[in-house]
Amino acid sequence: MNPQKHYNLPTISNLCKFFLISAIILYIFIVYHHSESTICILPINKTLKKLPDSSSSLPSPLPSPPTDISQLVFGISGSVKAWKDRRSYFREWWRPNVTRGYIFFDKEPTMDILPWPDNNLPSYRVSENTTKLKVYNRHVRPDVIRIVRTILETFREGDKDVRWYVMGDDDTIFFLDNLVELLGRYDHTKYLYIGGVSECVKSNFDFSFEMAFGGAGFAFSYPLAEALVANLDQCLEIYPFYYVSDQILSACIADLGVPLTTEKGFHQIDLVHDISGFLSAHPQAPLISLHHLDIATPIFPTMDRHTSVRHLMTAAKADQSRLLQQTVCYYKQKNWTLSIAWGYSAYIYEQLIPRSILRRPFETFTPWSLKRRPPDYMFNTRLVTNNSCETPHDFFFHSITIPSDNISNSNSRFDEVKMTYIRYKARQLPPCSSNHSADYISRIRVYSPSTKLNFVENRGECCDVLNVDGKNTVEIRIRACKKTEITIV
Ligand SMILES: *[C@@H]1O[C@H](CO)[C@@H](O)[C@H](O)[C@H]1NC(C)=O
Ligand SMILES: *[C@@H]1O[C@H](CO)[C@@H](O)[C@H](O)[C@H]1NC(C)=O
Ligand SMILES: *[C@@H]1O[C@H](CO)[C@@H](O)[C@H](O)[C@H]1NC(C)=O
Ligand SMILES: *[C@@H]1O[C@H](CO)[C@@H](O)[C@H](O)[C@H]1NC(C)=O
Ligand SMILES: *[C@@H]1O[C@H](CO)[C@@H](O)[C@H](O)[C@H]1NC(C)=O
Ligand SMILES: *[C@@H]1O[C@H](CO)[C@@H](O)[C@H](O)[C@H]1NC(C)=O
Ligand SMILES: *[C@@H]1O[C@H](CO)[C@@H](O)[C@H](O)[C@H]1NC(C)=O
Repeated sequence: MNPQKHYNLPTISNLCKFFLISAIILYIFIVYHHSESTICILPINKTLKKLPDSSSSLPSPLPSPPTDISQLVFGISGSVKAWKDRRSYFREWWRPNVTRGYIFFDKEPTMDILPWPDNNLPSYRVSENTTKLKVYNRHVRPDVIRIVRTILETFREGDKDVRWYVMGDDDTIFFLDNLVELLGRYDHTKYLYIGGVSECVKSNFDFSFEMAFGGAGFAFSYPLAEALVANLDQCLEIYPFYYVSDQILSACIADLGVPLTTEKGFHQIDLVHDISGFLSAHPQAPLISLHHLDIATPIFPTMDRHTSVRHLMTAAKADQSRLLQQTVCYYKQKNWTLSIAWGYSAYIYEQLIPRSILRRPFETFTPWSLKRRPPDYMFNTRLVTNNSCETPHDFFFHSITIPSDNISNSNSRFDEVKMTYIRYKARQLPPCSSNHSADYISRIRVYSPSTKLNFVENRGECCDVLNVDGKNTVEIRIRACKKTEITIV
C-alpha cells in the first residue's frame, strides 16, 4: 500500500537530472536578465510592493448571480462491469434534464446495459484509448491514466457557463442541494480544489493528507480545471509511480500552487461493517456525499442497501440542509438525553450526557484496513460497551410529513416538518437507574422548521422535549438556539 515503494532509482536519478538542468537554465536566465540592472544594488529601504487596491485582502464579494445547479458539470469515471450494480445508486441523486455531466466508461458498454436511458442518465462516453501515450508503458498502473484524464475529457466537452467541475466515482452519492449551496459560498473565479480526505488516518498517511479522495467526490473551480487540463498529460509523465488517480491529480494541483480546501461533508467512507455510529454523529457541516455504501452494512435495519439509500433520500428530498445534523436535548424528569441525527436516527440515553461527548461517533464500524491500530480515525470515537448508562436505545427514521403534503390535516403543525423514528429492536440491557427505563418508548416524533438550516451562521440547533406520553412516544421540537443558549446537562 505504501506509494513510496514505487519510487524506483532510475526515476529518481532522471528527476534529479531534470531538476539540475532546470536549475542551471534558470540561473543563467536570471543572471543574464539582471546583470545590468538591479541584482547587485538592492536598495536598503526597498519593501514589497503593495498590490493595487482592487485585490486587497478584503474577502471578495459572493459571486453574482448566485451559483445554481446548472453551473456544475459532473465528470464520473465508471466501469462497464460494475455499472449494473451501481446505476441504482446513481439514479438516487442524478436529476434528469437538470444536472449536466458525463460518465466515462473503460470500454464500449455491453448489451446488458444498453440501450442507454439518455433521458434519465447523463450521456456516456468511452474514455480515450491511452495506450498511445508515451507514459503508458512505464506507468505502475496504466489503467488509472484514463481515470486521471476524466477531467480533461469532461472539460473538452466544452460546456458553456460552467463554474465548477465536480468529479466522482460511479458509486458516489451526491447531495446536490447542499453541494450547490456549499460551492456557492466560494468564489468560482479563483483557483479552488474542494473535497475531503479519508476517515482513516492510515489511508491519508499512505496517500496524502492534502489529497481529495475521489470516491467522496471533489470540485474544481473553472480556472483550476483549465490550468489542470493544460498540464495534465505532462503531470502524468512526471508521476508514473503513483498508482491512484487521486494522487496524481493532487500532485499536479499542488504543482500548480493550489492547496486542498477540505470540507467535512465529503465522505469517502473508508469504513466497513455498520456505519450507523458514524452517520449518527455527523460533523457539523452539510452532508455533501456518501460512498462505498455497497460495501458497508445497509444503513437502515431491515432494509437492503438500495432501499436504504432510497429511504434516506426521502428525508433528503424534504430538507437536505438538516440531513444527519445532530441535535441534543434533555428530559430532566427522567434523566434522559436525546440525540437526533436528522433523517437518520434518534438515540435515548438513560443518563445526562454532554453534547461535547455525543458528537463523537460510536465505533460501530471497522477501518478500511480491517485492522484496529489506534489512532485509526481522523476524529474521536466512543467505544461500544454493554454499560446500561452509556448505551442508547436506538430508533431509526421511519416516515416524514412535509407541510405542503396535506394542508387540511388538522393534526399536523402546518409550518413544520414532522418525522417519526421507530425502535426496531429492544436494547436488551437492564435500566441505567431503576426508575427511569426507556424500554417502553417505541417511537420518537421530531418536529423541525420548514426553513433551511443556515450553515454560514455556524451554529447547530437546539431542541425541547415537548411531551412524553404515557404510552410510548416522545415528542421533540428542533428550533434555533437562543442568542446565548448552551446545551448543557
Ligand atoms: C529610500 O527612502 C527615502 C525616504 O523614504 C527616499 O527618499 C529614497 O529615494 C529611497 N531610496 C530608494 C533607493 O528607493
Ligand atoms: C428530459 O428531456 C427530454 C427531451 O426534452 C424528454 O423527452 C424527457 O422526458 C425528459 N426527461 C425527464 C425525466 O423529464
Ligand atoms: C487501445 O488501443 C490498443 C492499440 O491500438 C488496442 O490494442 C487496445 O485494445 C485498445 N484499448 C481499448 C480499451 O480499446
Ligand atoms: C439524575 O442523575 C443524577 C446523577 O446521576 C442524580 O443525582 C439525580 O437524582 C437523577 N435525577 C432523577 C430525576 O432521577
Ligand atoms: C455485550 O453483551 C453481548 C451479550 O452478552 C456480547 O455478545 C457482546 O460481546 C458484549 N459486547 C461488549 C462490547 O462487551
Ligand atoms: C389530508 O388529511 C385529512 C385529515 O387527516 C385526510 O382526511 C385527507 O385524506 C388528507 N388528504 C390527502 C390528500 O392526503
Ligand atoms: C422510584 O420511584 C418511587 C416512586 O415514584 C420512589 O419512591 C423511589 O424512591 C424511586 N427509586 C429510585 C431509585 O429513585
